[in-house]
Amino acid sequence: VRQMLEAAGFDMARYHQESFAAPAVEEVPAPFALPGDGGVETPIEAATPVRFSLSDVDAECLAGQTVLQTARASGVRIPAACEFGLCGTCKVRKVSGEVAMSHNGGILDHEIDDGFILACCSRPLTRLEIEA
Ligand code: FES
Repeated sequence: VRQMLEAAGFDMARYHQESFAAPAVEEVPAPFALPGDGGVETPIEAATPVRFSLSDVDAECLAGQTVLQTARASGVRIPAACEFGLCGTCKVRKVSGEVAMSHNGGILDHEIDDGFILACCSRPLTRLEIEA
């Protein structure tokens, strides 16, 4: 658009541009046990049970995974777009359990109070049941 406006003789002093991008993807380190006999750290296979009630799927969320990642790994489809807690596309109802949710405005306080979470930026703290 900028090039087209310049070519058309538009007064570029009146041209304004904004750009948006997703924040850097958060690296979630795998959990590690203390060094064993061989002095090598070994990954812990920590997992939290997640039930996707509408799909009748029982899954396990590995440490550091989001509810969305767990759903995808289990063949459960939750629509998603931005995947960083902004758009609200991945909003699902949490029937039970607790999550750590780090969103960027894609959900309102009253929706959280009503039991909704954003699957893309929620990690289970306890066993979960999700309406998906
Ligand atoms: S996909 Fe956009 S908020 Fe989750």
